[in-house]
Amino acid sequence: MRYFRNDLVDKKPSKINVPIKKRMMCLNESSLNPYSAIRDHFLAKMEEVQLNRYLSSITNDLHLALTSYIDNSLCKENVLIGNGADDILYHIFLAVRENNNSYAVSLAPSYFDYKTFSAMVGLKMQFVDLNEDFSFNTDKYLELANHPDCKLAILCNPNNPTGNLFPDEQLWQIITALPNKLILVDETYYEFSGKTFVGDLSAHPNLILVRSFSKAFAAAGLRFGYAISSEENIYELSKVLTTFHTSILNQTFALSILENKDIFQKQVQQTVFLRDELYNTLKTIEEINVHPSATNFLTFTLSDRTPDFFHYLLANEIAVRDVGSHPVLHNCLRVTISNREDVEAFVQCVKQFINK
Ligand SMILES: Cc1ncc(COP(=O)(O)O)c(C=O)c1O
Repeated sequence: MRYFRNDLVDKKPSKINVPIKKRMMCLNESSLNPYSAIRDHFLAKMEEVQLNRYLSSITNDLHLALTSYIDNSLCKENVLIGNGADDILYHIFLAVRENNNSYAVSLAPSYFDYKTFSAMVGLKMQFVDLNEDFSFNTDKYLELANHPDCKLAILCNPNNPTGNLFPDEQLWQIITALPNKLILVDETYYEFSGKTFVGDLSAHPNLILVRSFSKAFAAAGLRFGYAISSEENIYELSKVLTTFHTSILNQTFALSILENKDIFQKQVQQTVFLRDELYNTLKTIEEINVHPSATNFLTFTLSDRTPDFFHYLLANEIAVRDVGSHPVLHNCLRVTISNREDVEAFVQCVKQFINK
């Protein structure tokens, strides 16, 4: 007897499998523990919250704080909150899927889980490969996106795992060429790049942005993310969410973060500084090819010595991410800029390995 959807037979549950090491530089997390940073403020706020109730005034306070953080010209109906950017992505996929032929288009390599989550809801994916320099062909992208079965065009900007921002003009060309398609710009790394399409939402009703508290707000374990779009799009999207979708506990913590945002913004500045410093250091090492990044990570290769280096780092208690599954990133690793101590330990390992 089979109780579940037939297409689940060939799927596996989505799980992350990374080694646990002293220096976790593999998942683009922050090294700042947000609970330690804002504990008193959060606990004082919790005094006003009644977790025995479904509803709380915190929800409204959070929406107001979030919209004023994003852009003062927005109203709370422009924002949808969820349990991480992943959860928002999942629900967008769920809301756009029309039938078994429906698909979304994305660049490749890009965020791996677009594929995982779209498959969960039966939305297919089609990919446009990046070139060696991480550029891509607009015509190829538009050709796939223009098909009637294409229900969503995804652009991750800056892109994970390549780290680059795509040229504004090219993204503009896509946004304006597809007025009847929903275009999702994933701005999970926005705070590190400073680049956003928020100011263009009112002129482009086909645009939806996705953001996260896991990176710049150091709260990967909290699970908080949000979408920004027109009131109409947010209204449609909210129809596939359960009534009490994010917990009041989660919302209270997210609000506390926003009310202490200076702490996190300072950390972002330090991360950007460290990232550029590490980029310049790696640039001076002939054996390494490192890519510029507008995020909190750097992607690099040591050519065919990469697999050995990966294991050398593990043996030295440093976990980085192998992102070499796509040919464009063959033999590439991705290192998260966590903090100065980790970055210095990483540089020391690079130098020791190269001189071995
Ligand atoms: C591009 C991109 N989008 C979305 C996410 C998911 O973020 P969250 O932790 O908010 O679910 C990530 C996480 O690494 C990411 O890199």
